[in-house]
Amino acid sequence: MMQSSLILAILAALVSHLNPTLGEPSGHRVSYEHRRHASLQGRDTINPPPSTHGTLSFIQTANVTRVLINNPPINLLTAELISDLHSFLLWAQPAPQKRTPKVVIFTSTLPNFFLSHFDLRNLNPSSLKPSSSQQQQQQQPPQTPFTQLLSIGRLLQSTTSTAFIAQINGRTYGGGQELAAQMDMRFAGPGASIAQYENSNGFVAQAGGQLSLAPIIGKARALEHLLASRTIDAATGTRLGLFNNWYPDPATLDREVEALAARIGLFSQRALNDTKFSLAFMSPTAPMLEAQVERFAVVAAGEECQALLGRTLAASEVGGNAFERGIPNSVVEALYGDSLGALEAGLRRRVLGAVGQRCDF
Ligand SMILES: *[C@@H]1O[C@H](CO)[C@@H](O)[C@H](O)[C@H]1NC(C)=O
Ligand SMILES: *[C@@H]1O[C@H](CO)[C@@H](O)[C@H](O)[C@H]1NC(C)=O
Repeated sequence: MMQSSLILAILAALVSHLNPTLGEPSGHRVSYEHRRHASLQGRDTINPPPSTHGTLSFIQTANVTRVLINNPPINLLTAELISDLHSFLLWAQPAPQKRTPKVVIFTSTLPNFFLSHFDLRNLNPSSLKPSSSQQQQQQQPPQTPFTQLLSIGRLLQSTTSTAFIAQINGRTYGGGQELAAQMDMRFAGPGASIAQYENSNGFVAQAGGQLSLAPIIGKARALEHLLASRTIDAATGTRLGLFNNWYPDPATLDREVEALAARIGLFSQRALNDTKFSLAFMSPTAPMLEAQVERFAVVAAGEECQALLGRTLAASEVGGNAFERGIPNSVVEALYGDSLGALEAGLRRRVLGAVGQRCDF
């Protein structure tokens, strides 16, 4: 696993070396967007955020920053995307004399994916050590994609001066769904499809997603969702309270989220900060989150989980993007196909579920 991620890193470096447009830091694009909007908004703008690896681009107005996630083909939480998200959230940290956005909207440039899962090739035992709280206090960049992913979740919750909105119109799985669950609001389009598939792999959603989900949709529903690794669509997610709302067409979704963000952007950031700070009592505490990561390391290093992970990775390599689009049921099929086969056909269909089984785009 370590070897393949190393090979990928080397390949990525080679590709960016060979292809100047791919490797070009997106700073050019960012400053262009920034200039374009700055001219509309006057002097009172915020410095453009960074995107070292080019997986994010930004559209900024005076008080609202729209983050466009673009890590094709599936917005996999690769080391590069994680690093860019992390840098962006550090950029959004408040400081004296520094202006930060009141609202950040996260959305995807890919038609079928909002945010996919953590790159399992980076889940090796040496990456499981969480960064110490001392390290986080000093804001040193955590050392691995895994610890950086944890840090992103913590920053989404602890940055009380900015409201984070997820505008979701695609698949949102695993670590991607954990990050969405830690944003302040979620709005969905017709293509939204959410799942935590970790339990079917013998491990758990550990980046803050499990602990954050229960306050949003309630313990019983969170347990159903997590234990069964099942898919939630836009309408169901709205009924559960996971989405604030959903819209049957993407243009309306875009318009409504934009209008909401602009309205929030008019109002006092101090009041916003205090409101988000007050409601933080609903969020999991740092010790709860840290304890879960420690338990996760034990579960993930266990034989059962390692064997399941190995089989998932092998199936994913064979199945490619179709496998990714089919998550969580492609995972369930790959790992439990034999047991499913022993079930009567009708029951099997019901176990897999109509929504999750579809893989039709
Ligand atoms: C942005 O926020 C500032 C400071 O609160 C405010 O003066 C300004 O009117 C806001 N602009 C817009 C377009 O919301
Ligand atoms: C947000 O509110 C908290 C609690 O009052 C305060 O400690 C913090 O400094 C505030 N942050 C900003 C940027 O106003």
